[in-house]
Amino acid sequence: MTDHIVEKIGYNLHKRPDHPLGIIKSVIEEYFDATYGKDTFTSFDDMYPIVSTYANFDSVLVPPDHVSRSANDTYYVDESNVLRCHTSAHQLEMLKEGARKFLVTGDVYRRDSIDATHFPVFHQMEGVRVFESSEWEEKGVDAVDLARDELKATLEGLATHLFGEVEMRWVDAYFPFTEPSMELEIFFKGEWLEVLGCGVMEMKILEEAGLGDKRAWAFGLGLERLAMVLFDVPDIRLFWSDDRRFTKQFKAGMFRAGGVDMAKFKPYSKYPPCLKDVSFWLPEEAEKFTENNLCEVVRDAAGALVEEVKLIDEFENKKTGRTSNCFRIVYRSMERSLTDEEINEIQEKVRENMVAQLGVELR
Ligand code: PHE
Repeated sequence: MTDHIVEKIGYNLHKRPDHPLGIIKSVIEEYFDATYGKDTFTSFDDMYPIVSTYANFDSVLVPPDHVSRSANDTYYVDESNVLRCHTSAHQLEMLKEGARKFLVTGDVYRRDSIDATHFPVFHQMEGVRVFESSEWEEKGVDAVDLARDELKATLEGLATHLFGEVEMRWVDAYFPFTEPSMELEIFFKGEWLEVLGCGVMEMKILEEAGLGDKRAWAFGLGLERLAMVLFDVPDIRLFWSDDRRFTKQFKAGMFRAGGVDMAKFKPYSKYPPCLKDVSFWLPEEAEKFTENNLCEVVRDAAGALVEEVKLIDEFENKKTGRTSNCFRIVYRSMERSLTDEEINEIQEKVRENMVAQLGVELR
């Protein structure tokens, strides 16, 4: 795990009242207060992001061979601890501590590709609500039906509160910790946009928490995704910027239900990008090279100065059987002009580490 990622711990953007992520967090908490009654849901936003592999995976029934467990997808601190890759890591412990209706917001970490909507640290909010058996018995309905129907109604209400009268649809999904599982999509600016995942909690988790006679629903949503859409923020790195031209545009309380008559982000002129291509032969064991690993090498050298890493050419040499890739790296600062010298220095470091850490042969 590298410095650029470790140093993000403790920023707690979601706890800053005037930050777009803090604003969206509060708006959702207020929606839950308005819908279920004030303080029915308890909010937690202070859970430390380094958690055990047990909490991150096993406690939510992630199978042993699931891709998310790989060191290519998740940041391992050591063999048995990770930077949480989702706030679901706290479901079981909160239930064990007695929480029955709660929201957990926090920074989550994933190794991933690099572009305007992906940053290795982002923020999620988890919601869990436990039902007592009396709740479905009194109504004379099936427990799973009750949980699922309330979950859908609550989240449709949330989406309407955030986006106004938009078209929505439910899509079947898979999560190891819920059954049934689904995703909510909204139709926004001509495309279907996934806004959250949710479902009825697997009984195994409730049983583990000593709540085998109850039922629960859970959901998880990404705050950056919502904030980018609601405030028109074009690049995810802006959330990390302390440029006044960004920060001064956001204020607690600025959100208007449905996004109606609400100030949007006014972009200021962008600084010019700097493009660097790098061509190389994949290692003999080609599967040892992954795009996530390359992106980590670039992040390590460039931090938030990298905007995009994309494969622009790939071919196989029929004689040697080796594969060549060419990636384009787009560097750009959100705050200032970059100099040739600093980019050349970064690019040189990237090239060296590609050889040393990824085993590629530069062309
Ligand atoms: N943890 C899931 C994710 O990160 C989201 C989720 C949370 C889905 C709770 C269902 C229930 O994608």
